[in-house]
Amino acid sequence: MIIKYIVLILAIFNFANVYSLPNNRGKGKQDSPFDTIRMINSSTFSEPDSLELTERIINGKPANITQFPFIAQIFYRNASFINFSFRCTGSLISDLWILTAAHCLTDVNRNLVSPGDFRVAVGKDELVANADANDQYRVSFIGNFGYKENATLDAGLIKLAKPVPSIVATPAKLYTSPVKKRLRVNIAGFGLTDYAKPTPSNVLLQTRVYISQSANCSGFSPGWKSNNGPQICQENYKDLSPCKGDSGGPMVTKIKGKNVIVGITSSGGNKDKNVDNPCGHNVIDYYARVGYYVNSISKTTGIPLKNFTAT
Ligand SMILES: *[C@@H]1O[C@H](CO)[C@@H](O)[C@H](O)[C@H]1NC(C)=O
Ligand SMILES: *[C@@H]1O[C@H](CO)[C@@H](O)[C@H](O)[C@H]1NC(C)=O
Ligand SMILES: *[C@@H]1O[C@H](CO)[C@@H](O)[C@H](O)[C@H]1NC(C)=O
Ligand SMILES: *[C@@H]1O[C@H](CO)[C@@H](O)[C@H](O)[C@H]1NC(C)=O
Ligand SMILES: *[C@@H]1O[C@H](CO)[C@@H](O)[C@H](O)[C@H]1NC(C)=O
Ligand SMILES: *[C@@H]1O[C@H](CO)[C@@H](O)[C@H](O)[C@H]1NC(C)=O
Ligand SMILES: *[C@@H]1O[C@H](CO)[C@@H](O)[C@H](O)[C@H]1NC(C)=O
Repeated sequence: MIIKYIVLILAIFNFANVYSLPNNRGKGKQDSPFDTIRMINSSTFSEPDSLELTERIINGKPANITQFPFIAQIFYRNASFINFSFRCTGSLISDLWILTAAHCLTDVNRNLVSPGDFRVAVGKDELVANADANDQYRVSFIGNFGYKENATLDAGLIKLAKPVPSIVATPAKLYTSPVKKRLRVNIAGFGLTDYAKPTPSNVLLQTRVYISQSANCSGFSPGWKSNNGPQICQENYKDLSPCKGDSGGPMVTKIKGKNVIVGITSSGGNKDKNVDNPCGHNVIDYYARVGYYVNSISKTTGIPLKNFTAT
């Protein structure tokens, strides 16, 4: 696979709905033009290309930065909206590169937006105010791995304009082994803690979640065949889930006491088609599996595979 620098196809996919994450921090109130987590609209659940998700953590607990020294906050502004607002979570994977969801970097037609309209804060467990976003890291490049053609492929990369010193943040390693159902995983992000209140969490939250391989996984995402393809499926039986703003954030497991990245928060929705709330009770969520992309990530960044692999 190659990174798509140029978008080749116009909107042939039909997005049922795009959710944005309104911002109430910093000066001025505005909506992000992006869906910070792709929501699966339950009424269109069976159409894979209608997935739209932006996630945040429901019923999570504050995360200690020592466990997530790689966590990143992604801010965006668009041409008509000059101020930045929080859009997505991400992870530092080298001193220059941030791993996030592809949909955090594109418009509603899945076209990449301008790198100059992003700012990235790294190594902080408190949310940076939108008003301070301009002082954070600038971005020189963004890309994804065929997301325009296939919305299932929801992994993306951001290259920062200058390297992050190791005292500021430590890059995470990537998990490349098979993803088994019993793998113990947590997710983390700055997303909403209540779908009814569209404000991101002021602190990084994390929660344990449970990998699923039930019939619901292919039922709600026909492209899903197993947890060792591009998507990891997670079903929520304990009201723990991501929500808007968690998109792009890490699903992690511990290796030798350190969190390594297994997946990227991508999309989700309520399994009850009569319930609009895509966060918390009775939802199903999907994550981009990083092991699927690790070779492409190595090629794109020019960083040897072994530098990324958790041992
Ligand atoms: C952008 O931010 C400035 C300074 O914080 C504020 O005065 C202005 O109203 C904001 N603009 C919008 C469109 O929110
Ligand atoms: C910019 O963001 C504002 C606020 O979300 C939105 O109304 C507007 O359509 C966006 N413009 C573009 C060009 O995306
Ligand atoms: C985070 O963890 C470190 C190391 O375990 C500990 O020293 C520190 O007090 C913790 N901070 C918080 C806010 O819990
Ligand atoms: C699918 O989800 C429904 C609703 O949460 C649940 O009742 C059912 O047990 C799930 N199916 C499987 C095979 O786990
Ligand atoms: C998207 O990718 C998935 C996983 O590789 C595949 O199953 C599906 O057929 C693809 N969809 C399209 C429209 O190419
Ligand atoms: C889901 O889609 C249906 C039909 O397009 C629409 O009526 C409904 O408002 C959507 N739900 C949400 C939460 O956007
Ligand atoms: C890859 O890892 C090696 C050995 O730790 C290191 O010397 C090298 O700088 C790393 N390369 C990059 C591009 O980070």
